[in-house]
Amino acid sequence: MINDNNDTVQVDQAIAKSSVYNAAIINFPRIVDERGNLTFIESNRHLPFDIARAYWIYDVPGGESRGSHAYRQLQEVIIAISGSFEVLLDDGMAQKVVLLNRAYYGVYVPNMIWRRMQNFSTNAVALVLASLPYSVDDYIRDYNEFLRVNGKR
Ligand code: TYD
Repeated sequence: MINDNNDTVQVDQAIAKSSVYNAAIINFPRIVDERGNLTFIESNRHLPFDIARAYWIYDVPGGESRGSHAYRQLQEVIIAISGSFEVLLDDGMAQKVVLLNRAYYGVYVPNMIWRRMQNFSTNAVALVLASLPYSVDDYIRDYNEFLRVNGKR
């Protein structure tokens, strides 16, 4: 299971439950070096899924937010590779806001969690590692539909 203090994440698809309490900070390995630090990620070792896709969000104007939606199946890890931003997580019952501001940790987001990235700092870069290729059909963009599909309404 994901452990905030452990670099190793064992694979356990059972954690992909649609509760914000299953969203967790993952600390990645850090190779601290006076020449500059280094962090790395391997599929299924430091993440609880195989990485099918990576994308990044950058040049976000002040006050903008991204990604107000949920995924039916997709799991992801979101990392602030540069700068900082918040990830708002909502399972239809509970919400939590995670601040990402270091390149050596990220937040694991299970499927069927409504999530929004907000309050981007200048020069923030959000790296998203996703368990599935892009599929428009996997998105739920309507919050009321999310509540219905999630059984919360
Ligand atoms: P989207 O995930 O909808 O971002 P947001 O929820 O912040 O608006 O992505 C924006 C657009 O980019 C969308 O029209 C589809 C395209 N896109 C891809 O083609 N491939 C991808 O992997 C992603 C993430 C987005």
